Amino acid sequence: MYGGPVKIFGAELAHPVVNGSGTFDALAARRVFGEQLDARFPFAAYVSKTITLEPRPGNPPPRLWELGQGMINSIGLPNKGLARFIEEDLPAYAMLPAPLIVSVMGFSGDELAAAVEALGERSEILAFELNFSCPNVETGNIVGSSPEETAAMTSLLRGRTEKPLIAKLSPSSARPDQIALAAEQAGANAVSLINTLPGMAVDPSGGGPWLGGGGGGMSGPAVRPVALAQVSRVAEAVEIPVIGMGGVSCGRDAREMLDAGATLVGVGTENFRDPAAGERILAELRELNQSSVERK
Ligand code: FUM
Repeated sequence: MYGGPVKIFGAELAHPVVNGSGTFDALAARRVFGEQLDARFPFAAYVSKTITLEPRPGNPPPRLWELGQGMINSIGLPNKGLARFIEEDLPAYAMLPAPLIVSVMGFSGDELAAAVEALGERSEILAFELNFSCPNVETGNIVGSSPEETAAMTSLLRGRTEKPLIAKLSPSSARPDQIALAAEQAGANAVSLINTLPGMAVDPSGGGPWLGGGGGGMSGPAVRPVALAQVSRVAEAVEIPVIGMGGVSCGRDAREMLDAGATLVGVGTENFRDPAAGERILAELRELNQSSVERK
């Protein structure tokens, strides 16, 4: 039965569709639509934009390059920093009609540990997603590219909170299964993949990188075959749940991700094109269910 409730992290989610971190601003949506949003909230759990210990302005513009089948972003983790996140955003997230997964990143183990520790007891939070795989900042992908670094960082954080930890993996590793296994053995409760593929756009006016940050991360329908291959390989290797994402833009894509072994499906780039995409994708997923029943 596709699109039904999912038990994960000791909670029962209404369905398997969640957002990719940084692709849907639930707080802005709630400011605009108020309580109307609650009845049509598109995700079974909400994953926040990645936060870091200190505030960050993000990368210089331009930050986006559109492709026929996706885009390259060079956002660079802009965020208000942990202290303001706790003070301003956590109470607002608690009003959402879906459990909260907080995405965290650190430029050192100490930074990441401090963030997880400060948030580790907060009842508003269901789980942490550890962003080991951001291609848009200098050290962003180092942990996620190495099983040893992933294991060391996960076990450091495992000691700092009882909450479930989700390791977000990079598609740039040739052996994502080894990285996922390293995360699992070090105490991660789930893995999510894929983050964006490192990419580059050239300035059409005469060479050099177009994006202010130099390179960027490619996402959207073009990366979906890569995501499916990696999700399938990782799901075969680990016992913990896999949150599969990468180019999902319709119900059929979501079903393929579940068939590849994912427990939850993330919708990312499609949210920029259609902020109600999560709701549509879930409805399409459930319709596919119906049509396979009818075919029997
Ligand atoms: O803000 C960002 O550049 C996030 C990137 C990522 O984690 O992929």
